[in-house]
Amino acid sequence: VKFRGCIVLEFNKVIPNELQNKVNEIVEYLNSNVLVKGVKVREEAGKIIEFKVRDNKIVFYTEAGRQVRIHNAALRIKNYFLSNISPKYRLGIRGLRIENGIIELDGQYTVSLKLPFIKSIEVKEGRTIILLEDISESEIKKPYIDRLLKLLHEKELRTKWGGKAEHWELLRQSKIKFKEPKFTEDPNKILEEIGWIKRFSVGQWFYTPPFTYLLNMLKYFFIEEVVKPLGFQEAMFPKMYPLEVGLKTGHLKGTINSMIFASFPRSYDISIYEELIDYMYVTDTAPPEELQKYVKPPTHFLCFAQCEPFYQFFSKEVLDDKNLPIKMYDHSGPSFRWEAGGLHGVERVIEFHRVEVVWLGKPEQVVEIRNQLLERYEYFMDKVLDLEWRWAWVTPWYYEQAGIVEEEKRELDINQPGTIDFEAWLPYRGPREDKKNWLEIGNISIHGTKFTEPFKIKHNKGETLWTGCSGFGTERWTITFLAQHGFNPENWPEKPRKYIEENPFPIPVRGVTYPKTEKGRKLLEEIIRYFKK
Ligand code: SER
Ligand code: ZN
Repeated sequence: VKFRGCIVLEFNKVIPNELQNKVNEIVEYLNSNVLVKGVKVREEAGKIIEFKVRDNKIVFYTEAGRQVRIHNAALRIKNYFLSNISPKYRLGIRGLRIENGIIELDGQYTVSLKLPFIKSIEVKEGRTIILLEDISESEIKKPYIDRLLKLLHEKELRTKWGGKAEHWELLRQSKIKFKEPKFTEDPNKILEEIGWIKRFSVGQWFYTPPFTYLLNMLKYFFIEEVVKPLGFQEAMFPKMYPLEVGLKTGHLKGTINSMIFASFPRSYDISIYEELIDYMYVTDTAPPEELQKYVKPPTHFLCFAQCEPFYQFFSKEVLDDKNLPIKMYDHSGPSFRWEAGGLHGVERVIEFHRVEVVWLGKPEQVVEIRNQLLERYEYFMDKVLDLEWRWAWVTPWYYEQAGIVEEEKRELDINQPGTIDFEAWLPYRGPREDKKNWLEIGNISIHGTKFTEPFKIKHNKGETLWTGCSGFGTERWTITFLAQHGFNPENWPEKPRKYIEENPFPIPVRGVTYPKTEKGRKLLEEIIRYFKK
């Protein structure tokens, strides 16, 4: 991002000759002191290229960097005049403006013309040139320009780096546990065939008692073996959030394309709906376009990351050492993620279930808790579920890095903010050597101040607070377990086998037409026999 523009300083009277002769000197001083103060890289400072004195104005034609941005430069120049020049010449300052501002970006971008200050946008020879309206002093002081520049800078970064394959760096992996896979079928298909799950709507399923039993088994082990031993306590988080929560978490800006929104009715008065009701009555159809007229624009979104309410709860609260860290988990309801295409069984769905683990504390506490969780996760994956797993660091470093963008190989430090994905091999998809035969089943993150800052979660002595969270995707862990160990509990590891012995297995749904196929009905009886043994 390059910013050029005229900083116009207006005085209450014509500039006296004596001062006019000094402006050159002043500009030199501004360039070598005032506009470079606190800047490490010279190009990131502000620089006055040219100036003109006209009646009661001085116009500074200025180029700004990323550290002293154009509005910082304008305010620094004004303040310098205010304290050093005005008193000497009895000159009052009447105004400050930025005129003919131009922002230049490498690459071609689309930027909304509805944004404040943007007059026009041109793309020329691989560069995007944004012409700005004049910016008044009161606007200079608002955070809009800063945010506009930040937005453009992020667009540039994303274009420069985002096109690359996602960041993925192997951290750790299990031993190879099966020379030959025990099971090579797709559990999603079997579950549907034997009627344990039934498609409900796009990306949504009905889980009958046997599959619910299996989901609960996986969840039970995770909670008992990982979450509770580390002192996390269960809470119940809401599952529908006001838009402002998504603005603060950043999801509305980063993942709006996968979120599902909710609208409230326009009125509680049923008589208002009479026309629509009559229509549905007679046509026996529910027309979405008509319905739309009776609901307000969306003001909420459905549970997306599941930890959002935790940050909202602590928003503007002040915490002290003796009550930190705070550790909670929630599994009180589903999450929603609109996956365009690529839905598959219960592995990739729109409505899914998750145990969300979330914690808050001082940086060292947050890191320590994450490390304890990793230790328990490893034990859980190896000793309880006996899975073939691997962990990968998936945080693109350039998003973390403020400032200079250069392709440098940064040493990976997993005790910094970032995310680790947990993946498991799905033998039904193909050989473990191929990346696409692995499924992301969960993740764990240290967020740094990503949430404590926008939600204003404070420490009484002003210390920094961090958060962390980890998501356990119940359906995905269950599918993974079945994909690696199969449907016969005799082939399962010890703890799950015991679980089956100790917890009566539910009666499956059977009817004249259910499960649908003869093959499915036969397979169901076979699998039920395994579970009865
Ligand atoms: N909240 C985290 C996520 O959405 C972990 O579940 O990825
Ligand atoms: Zn989370």
